[in-house]
Amino acid sequence: MSLRDFLAWAAGEGQLTTIHRPVNPELEMARVAHALEGRPLLFTDPQRPGWQVAAGVCARREFFAWALGTDLPGIVPRLVEALNNPVAPPLMADAPCQQVVERAPNLGALPILKHLPGDGGPYVTAAVAVIRDPDLGRNVSFHRLMQIGPRAFSARIVEGRGTDTALRKALAAGRGLEIAICLGAPIHVLLAAAMSPAMGVDELAIAQALAPTPLARAVSVDLEVPAECEAILEGRITGQLAGEGPFIDLTETWDVVRQQPVIEIDCITHRRSPIYHALLPGGLEHRLLMGLPREPTIFRAVSEVADCRNVSITPGGMSWLHAVVQIAKNSPDDGRLAIEAAFQGHRSLKHVVVVDDDVDPFDPAAVEWAIATRFQADRDLLVYEDQPSSSLDPSAKLVPGQKARSAKMGLDATIPWLDSRGRRLSQLERDGFHKVRYEPIDLSQYIDGSVDA
Ligand SMILES: Cc1cc2nc3c(=O)[nH]c(=O)nc-3n(C[C@H](O)[C@H](O)[C@H](O)COP(=O)(O)O)c2cc1C
Repeated sequence: MSLRDFLAWAAGEGQLTTIHRPVNPELEMARVAHALEGRPLLFTDPQRPGWQVAAGVCARREFFAWALGTDLPGIVPRLVEALNNPVAPPLMADAPCQQVVERAPNLGALPILKHLPGDGGPYVTAAVAVIRDPDLGRNVSFHRLMQIGPRAFSARIVEGRGTDTALRKALAAGRGLEIAICLGAPIHVLLAAAMSPAMGVDELAIAQALAPTPLARAVSVDLEVPAECEAILEGRITGQLAGEGPFIDLTETWDVVRQQPVIEIDCITHRRSPIYHALLPGGLEHRLLMGLPREPTIFRAVSEVADCRNVSITPGGMSWLHAVVQIAKNSPDDGRLAIEAAFQGHRSLKHVVVVDDDVDPFDPAAVEWAIATRFQADRDLLVYEDQPSSSLDPSAKLVPGQKARSAKMGLDATIPWLDSRGRRLSQLERDGFHKVRYEPIDLSQYIDGSVDA
C-alpha cells in the first residue's frame, strides 16, 4: 500500500485530519504534528509549492495491520514469515516515483522540517536509504539527514551497520558510495528498512514478501528503488565529514553533535504533487518503527526453544528496551529458556517478561497481573550483570567509542510447574492460577438500550 493509498484509506475511515491553512515547515509544522500525535495528518499547504506533507502515518499498530492486510495479533507472524522467506522484487517501467525528474535539484524547495529551535538544521527523518555493498549486495536502512546546503546533507550513519561498512569499502577504493534516498515510502517498505536481517539479506526482498514492491532503476545512480515512493534523492555519500546535530533521539533527549559523512544530491525524481513524510523524532512513529521490527526477531529466537505465541515491545520502554513474550508452556523450564532466547533475538533488550498464552502481552495491566499472581522474585527472576546493551539507555555504562553495557533482567511470570521442593504441580493445581471467568450473558434481557462496557 503506497503512502497516498494509505492516506486515502485513512480518509475513507474518517481517521485522516487534513490541515488546509499554510503551515511553516520551520518549527510550526512539528508543533502541530506533536500536538496531534497518534493520528494521520495531511498538510496540504507546507509553503513549498507542489508538495504536501503527511505525518502520523505509522503512529499506531493498527495502521501497520491495515497496511499489511492483517489484524493486530497477525502483525508479528506476518513479519516472521517475510523475514524467513524473502522474495526478489520485480522491476517495473514508468515508475510513479519518476514522473518528474529534476537534474538541477534544490533541497530548499522540499518541505524539510526543522523540529526544534535547538536542532542543527532542517532534518529529513523518514529517509530510507538504498546502497549497494560490493560483496553483500543491496542494503536498505534509515538515516536521518541534516540539510547543510541546497544539495547537501550530513547523515547519521551508525558505525558497523550495512551503510557504514559499504561506505568504508568504497572510500578505500578511492570513491564515494552511490545512494538513493526514498521519501514517502510505503509503510511495509518502512518496516522492512527498519529490520536488521543478517548481512547480505536484501530488505527490499523482505518488503516484497510483505506486499508487492515493484522497483524502478534510479535515473542517475546504479541502484533500484521502490517505484511507489513519493520522491527519490539520488547522489553520493562522500569522504567528507561535517557536523551532524544537535537532534533529539528516541529518548526525546538531545543527541550529541558528531562529525558525519556528507551526502551530495545530484538528481531528484518525484511523483506529480508529491507527499513528503515527516516523522517526529522520539514520537510514536519513530518508536513503533524501531520496536516493531524487533518483535519478529525475538519471536524467531524464542521459537527455537519454546512454543512462542506473540511478542510485544512495549511503548513504556521507549519501544526498544522492554518486551513481553507470550508462550504456550510445555515444560517447567520454558519461561527461563524464553528469557535467554529473547535477549539473543534483540541485543538491545534490557528487561523481558514472559507470560502464558492466557495473558494479553499488549495489555500492561494483564502483564502486571501475571507478575503479581504467578511470579516469585527468588525463583523466577534472572539477572545478568554487565551485558552489551543499548546506547539509548542513559543509565547504561556509556564510554565513547565502546559498546554500551548494562545489567539485564528477565521475569518468568508464567504459571509455575514445580513447587519449592521440585515436585511437579498437577494440572488441577496449575489450573488454579487461571482467572475465573463469568459466563457471558445477554444484557438486553435485563436493561433497555445500550450499556457502556
Ligand atoms: C525511524 C528510524 C530512524 C533511524 N535513524 C537511523 C540513523 O539516523 N542512522 C542509522 O545508522 N540508523 C538509523 N536507524 C536504524 C537503522 O534503520 C537500522 O539500524 C537498520 O536496520 C540497520 O540495518 P543494517 O544493519 O542492515 O544496515 C533508524 C531506524 C528507524 C526506524
